[in-house]
Amino acid sequence: MKNVEITGTGRAVPSMVVTNDDLAKIVDTSDEWISTRTGIKQRFFCDKDECANSLAIEAAGKALKDSGLSPEDIGVCICATVSGDFATPSMACMVQRHLGLRENIPSFDINAACSGFLYGIEVARGLLNGTGEKHALIVGCEQLSKLMDMTDRSTCVLFGDGAGAAVITLSDEKVYASTLGTRGGYEIMAYGAGPKPSKLTMQGQDVFKFATSIIPRCIGELSEKSGLGLDDMDKVICHQANERIIDFVIRRLKADPDKFYKNMDRYGNTSAASVPIALDELVKEGDVKRGDLLMMVGFGGGLTWAGAVIRYAGRSTE
Ligand code: ACO
Repeated sequence: MKNVEITGTGRAVPSMVVTNDDLAKIVDTSDEWISTRTGIKQRFFCDKDECANSLAIEAAGKALKDSGLSPEDIGVCICATVSGDFATPSMACMVQRHLGLRENIPSFDINAACSGFLYGIEVARGLLNGTGEKHALIVGCEQLSKLMDMTDRSTCVLFGDGAGAAVITLSDEKVYASTLGTRGGYEIMAYGAGPKPSKLTMQGQDVFKFATSIIPRCIGELSEKSGLGLDDMDKVICHQANERIIDFVIRRLKADPDKFYKNMDRYGNTSAASVPIALDELVKEGDVKRGDLLMMVGFGGGLTWAGAVIRYAGRSTE
C-alpha cells in the first residue's frame, strides 16, 4: 500500500459566538468553572440559517481550493460526523453535489465520533490504493448544538459546532503510520434522528480516565509503527476535548508542551471537526509548513480512538 500526505486544508465555523458568560445565563455555571475545568472560553453554535451540511461544504471547498486541485481530481469523499442534517442523503453526498465532484467516486459518511476524521484518513488511504485514484477529500463536521441538552450543565458547556477538511494524496512518502481502535460502551451517548429527542449524555470522569490512558497508548503505537518519536514530530494535534487532558498527557510523557496544539479555548469540543480545524489553523498561521511531520490523535464516543503520523505537503506555506 502506498502512503498518503496532506495536500490541502480548510475550516468553517458558524456565525454565533457563545461565551461561557452567555451559558451562565442559561444554566447554573460560571466562566471560572468552565475555564479552569476545561480550558474552554467560547464556542460557535449554528444560527437559524446555518446547518451541518453548510459548514461541511464550506470547509471542503476551502480545502479543495487550498490543494490547487479541481473537483474532477477528487476520487474519494468521506465525511465524519455524528450530527449530520439527515440520516440520508449523507453529508458526503451533499459535499459531492455542491462542489461538483465526479459522480463515479465513493462519497459516504462515517461515524467514529471524535475519532472520525482520523478514521476517514485511513479508510480513504485504503480506497485510494484499491481504486487507482490519487486524491481524497476528508471532512470532519459537527452541529452538536442540536444534540445537546441545554439544561444539563455537565455537558452543554463542553461542545461546539464547526467543520474542518483536508485533501490527502497518495505519494511515495516513506513516513506514515496509523492506529485505530474501539471498545464498545455507553459512556458518551446521543440518539440520532428517531422518536426520542436527541440528548447527548456523558460520564465525564470515565471519559477523562479513558482519554488520559488512550492518548499515550496511541502515541506509543504510532511511535512503534513509524520508528519515530515525539521529538521527530513538528506538531502533535490531539482531539480538543479538554485542556486538562492534554496537559496530563504532556506531563505523563514528559513531552515538549510547545508541540501540543490547543485551541479549545475558542471552539470548545467540536468532536470529529476538532482535529481538522486545529490542523487548518496551524497551516494558515504558518506554524505547520510544507514538509513538516504531524502526529494526530483522536478519541471519543463509541468508545473509539485513532491516530496518524502523516506529512504535511500542502502548498500554503513553502
Ligand atoms: N458548572 C458548574 N458546576 C458544574 C458544571 C458546570 N458546567 N458541570 C458540573 N458541575 C458540578 C457537578 O455538578 C459537581 O458538583 P457536586 O460536586 O456538587 O456534585 C462538580 O461540578 C464536579 O463535577 P465533576 O463531573 O466531578 O467535574 P469534573 O472535574 O470531572 O469535570 C468534566 C467535568 C469537565 C466533564 C471532566 O470530567 C472532563 O473533562 N471529562 C472528559 C470529557 C471529555 O473529554 N469528553 C470529550 C470526549 S468524547 C467527545 O468528544 C464526544
